[in-house]
Amino acid sequence: MPDQPMLDRSPFLQGPFAPVTEEITALDLPVTGRLPADLDGRYLRNGPNPLDADEPLQHWFLGAGMVHGVRLRNGRAEWYRNRWVRSRQVAERLGEPWPGGPVHAGMDFAANTHVLAHAGRTLATVEAGALPYELTDDLDTVGPCDFDGTLPGGYAAHTKLDRRTGELHAVAYCWVRDHVQHVVVGPDGRVTGTTDVPVADGPMMHDFALTDRYVVLLDLPVTFSMDAAAAGVQLPYTWNPAHPPRVGLLPRTGPSREVRWFEVDPCWVFHTLNAYDDETGRVVLDLCRYEAPYDLAALTGNGSPTLDRWTFDPATGVARQDRLDDRPQEFPRVDERVVARPHRYGYSAVTAEVGAATVGQDGSFADGAFADALLKHDLASGTVEAHSFPRGSAVGEAVFAPSAPDAAEDDGHLLAFVHDPDRGATDLVVLSAQDVAGPPVARVHLPLRVPLGFHGSWLPDGR
Ligand SMILES: [Fe+2]
Repeated sequence: MPDQPMLDRSPFLQGPFAPVTEEITALDLPVTGRLPADLDGRYLRNGPNPLDADEPLQHWFLGAGMVHGVRLRNGRAEWYRNRWVRSRQVAERLGEPWPGGPVHAGMDFAANTHVLAHAGRTLATVEAGALPYELTDDLDTVGPCDFDGTLPGGYAAHTKLDRRTGELHAVAYCWVRDHVQHVVVGPDGRVTGTTDVPVADGPMMHDFALTDRYVVLLDLPVTFSMDAAAAGVQLPYTWNPAHPPRVGLLPRTGPSREVRWFEVDPCWVFHTLNAYDDETGRVVLDLCRYEAPYDLAALTGNGSPTLDRWTFDPATGVARQDRLDDRPQEFPRVDERVVARPHRYGYSAVTAEVGAATVGQDGSFADGAFADALLKHDLASGTVEAHSFPRGSAVGEAVFAPSAPDAAEDDGHLLAFVHDPDRGATDLVVLSAQDVAGPPVARVHLPLRVPLGFHGSWLPDGR
């Protein structure tokens, strides 16, 4: 039986992870520097923010979702808002009526993992069988979304938007199923197709990748554990050495019998950077990789992820696994316009080994145990630029915002929440993507600390 996660000293409830206790609306925020006029839209980021911070067995992945957002327009920061996503449990805990709506298989998890926009909807997403929640432009909860009744099951945290077709791709998994499901949502916001791919053992598939030709499936050895579930483990997915690690190339139009599987070394992957078909027909997949075994229940003590490149040749069946950068890093992102197509640049957040050596006696993280820097990779030249923030800054995922719809791949800005330890609150930091190491272009000063969280999006107006 795996150890219970987190115990009563969960580091994920303390220090830079500690939840905030109130929802705030702040208007016309102070800005240091100059906000680029082309930043016209909303930067939103989702993450866990438990309502009961003294809950002794809280796993970081299970806290109630809270979306933090900043609205930029005409060089001004018009507002900051943070709002819990009103799942049934959250609404009840807040003493509010639950908005109601569809629920898949009785699962109504906190939609705490990502926030994105598609077909006019803003969606907070989560995986493992639950539905996303639709939010208003001002981050109020509309309710669960099953894409106008067209989604046959649960949904996924991570999605890939193909900007040429307007299709939103996802891979949904759920422990009650003997398959994972590729879901395509059309530009009208309705599901246009699903493909079920049989898998064994109920693998967790947190993320996937997309190319012009393929959906890239990561079938790795963190799988559902009935023993762990029966023992009351809150997130019952465990390392399963009997589960053969493999990567599947599913033709985007199916059928599932045409999925091509490649064996890979035992390892764990939360996130892909991007994937594409190269000029020879191989699939190139960049990702952040952890060494095996991976202890999901603990999260800590798993070593540091590296940026790797895996290449699959459907013609020969040969797979390669190469290291691009051995600096510890996570939350890889590309310019969303190059998703599924060749990318030159990638962005990630530096992270350090989160383990016993970095967790203090009181359970808090030692200074610098999480990320205090952002990286820009130039994968054509093999060079890396870093922007280092002061110690204790707790930098999370950075999102790229192009300066114009047709701007070059790195012509734009990086947006990230960065804690200011001197002020005791968080800034939305804007870096020039073509001068990542240079001083920030602007810092929007928020009225509170934003806990370290998961994923976000830059949602420009009118595009
Ligand atoms: Fe993720």
